[in-house]
Amino acid sequence: MANVRVFLTLAAFAGAIVLGPDAALAVASADNGKVAFVKHGCWQCHGFEGQGSSDTSAGRVLYDTKLPFNAFKAYVRDPSGAMPPFHAEVLSDSDLTDIYAYLQSLPKPKPASDIPLLKQ
Ligand code: HEC
Repeated sequence: MANVRVFLTLAAFAGAIVLGPDAALAVASADNGKVAFVKHGCWQCHGFEGQGSSDTSAGRVLYDTKLPFNAFKAYVRDPSGAMPPFHAEVLSDSDLTDIYAYLQSLPKPKPASDIPLLKQ
């Protein structure tokens, strides 16, 4: 019995090493991320579409975050400034991965050069 447990533990470690964050992102669900973004209250400061807020004390634009997933995760777990921390007990790794996938899935704005009215 003990051997089975050791084997399962080793198998889980091997899986974590082989899969890593990229594989976690590959199976992430943007649909679930949208639900988690609302459930965990990210929208209260960052807007439902991650559009940020004009209030300077509130959250930044998130829909086109340049943060790679690991930096995004590290920030949410231990943020700077006015953002409250979201620890793993409150917001699971899987929900956070899905939130990232949701933000990545949101349409990005056109560059100003593609908007005729803004051309000189
Ligand atoms: C109470 C308001 C509030 C809530 C709720 C909140 N944030 Fe924030 N968030 C902020 C503020 C304010 C900043 C900017 C912090 C600073 O640098 O002063 C920020 C910054 C961030 C950044 C860094 C963006 C960048 O490009 O530097 C990320 C990522 C982020 N928030 C994700 C989230 C996620 C995901 C959630 C939900 C789990 C969330 N936030 C909930 C207020 C909030």
